[in-house]
Amino acid sequence: MTLFQKLPTETGSGPHLLEAPLRRAARQSFRAVQPFVLGPRVLDVGSAEGWIGELVSRQMHHDVQLLDVVDMNRTELPHRLYDGNSIPFPDGAFDTTLVMLTLHHCTDPEAVLREAIRVTRSRLIITESTYRTTPGRWMLWLMDSVVNACRSRCLMPEALHFRRVTEWRAVFREAGLHLRAQRHLSRGLHRHVVFVLDLHEEDAR
Ligand SMILES: C[S@@+](CC[C@H](N)C(=O)[O-])C[C@H]1O[C@@H](n2cnc3c(N)ncnc32)[C@H](O)[C@@H]1O
Repeated sequence: MTLFQKLPTETGSGPHLLEAPLRRAARQSFRAVQPFVLGPRVLDVGSAEGWIGELVSRQMHHDVQLLDVVDMNRTELPHRLYDGNSIPFPDGAFDTTLVMLTLHHCTDPEAVLREAIRVTRSRLIITESTYRTTPGRWMLWLMDSVVNACRSRCLMPEALHFRRVTEWRAVFREAGLHLRAQRHLSRGLHRHVVFVLDLHEEDAR
């Protein structure tokens, strides 16, 4: 058992030191994406504790489905586990799909993106931790590893796919998505970027 697995965590019982900052981060992420979420059916891929989805559900009154490869859910929202490859919902089942700080944790980010597109009717909202320099990338990896190991009792797959903004934009273009908006949530060590992507070009104008 590693040191991180011995720590009290979100998935264990009792309060956790990270709960307040994680809830604050969820509120910040929600505020950034709220103007772009189209309802009424919303899928949150890589939902972790489910706190962003809970805000979408409570404040926007949309039907939110949580999806993840590990069960860290702390909400009453419907939650599905899956194999990390084939999303267990039919084509076009959701109006908006959120993929927030998740693609860099996926074993095959392009495969998850293809599946997210398949189950979405209109819009994907993707947030990513990006970097500009090689030292910046190593700092991001270190910060992400420590926070998410504590947060998930080392259950969360390691972040192996950090990319630059230009690289993510190329991935989205290649997947046939249309960029409607791009925003920075933070620009320090954690260069947190929101990409709002439409499946149909006319919606992106
Ligand atoms: C850093 S957390 C992000 C949680 C939340 N979306 C947020 O913005 O705070 C990354 C999440 O992605 C999940 N994840 C990893 N691989 C995945 C995959 N292939 N499909 C869906 N979720 C995955 C992890 O289990 C974890 O809950």
